[in-house]
Amino acid sequence: MKGVILAGGKGTRLFPLTAVTNKHLISVGNLPMIEYPLCTLRRLNPESISVVTGGEHFQDIARYLGEMHPEINFSYHYQKEAGGIAQALSFVGSFVKPKKIAVVLGDNIFENDFQKAAIEFEKSGLGAMLFLKQVNDPERFGVAEIKKGRIVFIEEKPKRPKSNLAVTGLYFYDSSVFDKIKRLKPSKRGELEISHVNQMYIDEGRMDFCIVKGYWSDAGTIVSRMACEKFVKRGLERQVVNSFPKETISLLKKLNPDLFV
Ligand code: G1P
Repeated sequence: MKGVILAGGKGTRLFPLTAVTNKHLISVGNLPMIEYPLCTLRRLNPESISVVTGGEHFQDIARYLGEMHPEINFSYHYQKEAGGIAQALSFVGSFVKPKKIAVVLGDNIFENDFQKAAIEFEKSGLGAMLFLKQVNDPERFGVAEIKKGRIVFIEEKPKRPKSNLAVTGLYFYDSSVFDKIKRLKPSKRGELEISHVNQMYIDEGRMDFCIVKGYWSDAGTIVSRMACEKFVKRGLERQVVNSFPKETISLLKKLNPDLFV
């Protein structure tokens, strides 16, 4: 399995924090936001990790990850304009094909480890796997409608959600995802929507889902980022720091021992 982090977008919902930097480098607790989804991917032991980002802060992401994670051989892909999650994913097509891939959104914070699900997905004949979470504000997300234990429909940010099951920003796909993206048409908001890709898998009958048991939230708005800050202080921040490579831990201990107090 190969890993992909999507870290593009303008981050307007976090403005003015994002006025002069990439959203994914804004802090959640004592770490830049991107460390959490990166940890989610690293726990899957991917063969490689591709990062898609864009805008004028493209190099900042590469520099940050290169300094903190010399153990990972990242590939970087440039998204010229914010054209949606599916468009961002299309940029890694030739790089990760023909493998199955785990895709995570760079502002999503998960408590759980999905390694078991990844191993099962790799062995299965499934085309895609989604991870759903019950939320109080489904209208902010892609929402799944379930009938007889199967997802039948996904609606992006519905005004009247058919359930309270949000589609989280962790997706497992087979390599047909790239051909599906080629067939997409821009949505009303002018983006290539990942929810439309997911619907194609549902229509083929090749999609399954899990319910996320532990904490999940995006950190892409002022309110959700604050909730994530509280959550990571309960232990996830420390777990992520402890999972850094030895050389990074030594560097951090020298530069900022407070991080380990
Ligand atoms: C995106 C997806 C949405 C998903 C959400 C998870 O929304 O479009 O389907 O539920 O991420 O964080 P966005 O954050 O771009 O509004």
